Amino acid sequence: MTHVVATRPDLAAALAAVDPASRRAVVMTMGALHAGHLQLVREARALVGPSGHVTVTIFVNPTQFAPGEDLASYPRTFDADLAACREEGVDLVFAPAPDVVYPDGDPVVTVDPGELGTLLEGAVRPGHFRGVLTVVAKLLSLTRPHVALFGEKDYQQLTLIRRMVRDLDLGVEIVGVATVRADDGLALSSRNGYLSDAQRTVARAVPAALAAGREAAAAGGDPCEVETAVVRALSAYDVTVDYAVVRDAQLGPAPSSGEARLLVAVRVGSVRLLDNCRLVLGAPA
Ligand code: PAF
Repeated sequence: MTHVVATRPDLAAALAAVDPASRRAVVMTMGALHAGHLQLVREARALVGPSGHVTVTIFVNPTQFAPGEDLASYPRTFDADLAACREEGVDLVFAPAPDVVYPDGDPVVTVDPGELGTLLEGAVRPGHFRGVLTVVAKLLSLTRPHVALFGEKDYQQLTLIRRMVRDLDLGVEIVGVATVRADDGLALSSRNGYLSDAQRTVARAVPAALAAGREAAAAGGDPCEVETAVVRALSAYDVTVDYAVVRDAQLGPAPSSGEARLLVAVRVGSVRLLDNCRLVLGAPA
């Protein structure tokens, strides 16, 4: 049975009733659940086992939206989300209102994401990662899991959460889960619903760009050549490129060979699309 709570006392009571010997996982979401979220839930269950405990949080976090962003229009589909959680056998859903998470209004003490928080997504959305890390730290404190799972789709977010947990000794295991894609290759995202049919066709630019990047890397391209191939692939579509970069796996400067990450962000009309993939750079065998 899926237990649903919205307040701190009810959450604390629900967690107190969990067998202390069982392993607990949390999947944090902003709702509008899609197959990517459900994959996180399934991997959470696989990690904690049938006798473990899986919590899903549903909270559209205001502090990670800048003024003028889509906080008010962000899709809210609570009944369908709950039905999906029940279907997946989630043990506990924590769906607080903003004043439950932020009882004193905007927090005065927040988590500083450091320099990485100002790059890539952080350059386009100033303050975004401070809001993300602060709410993730709060939800970790409130739900006290052994393991928390996040999608690789938001790779910079995942990287910063791992770093926060290490730097602040938060004592939770962070697991990244592979991106789930639609048949046309587009990474699933709650914001894909903003795309018109015509924009959805243009959005194929993103998987096409990742494929071009992977191909250039497999042909022995260096980071610069890979980025050039990606930008060339994107230029065939009517998109505005926010960034298309190769970095190392922790999002530091790209290595000349070995494991790297390609990150792409574009705008199709006013809809932003992010994606990324692993690359192996170096001379082909
Ligand atoms: O990835 C998201 O949905 C959000 O950024 C998160 C991690 C739930 C924090 O609000």
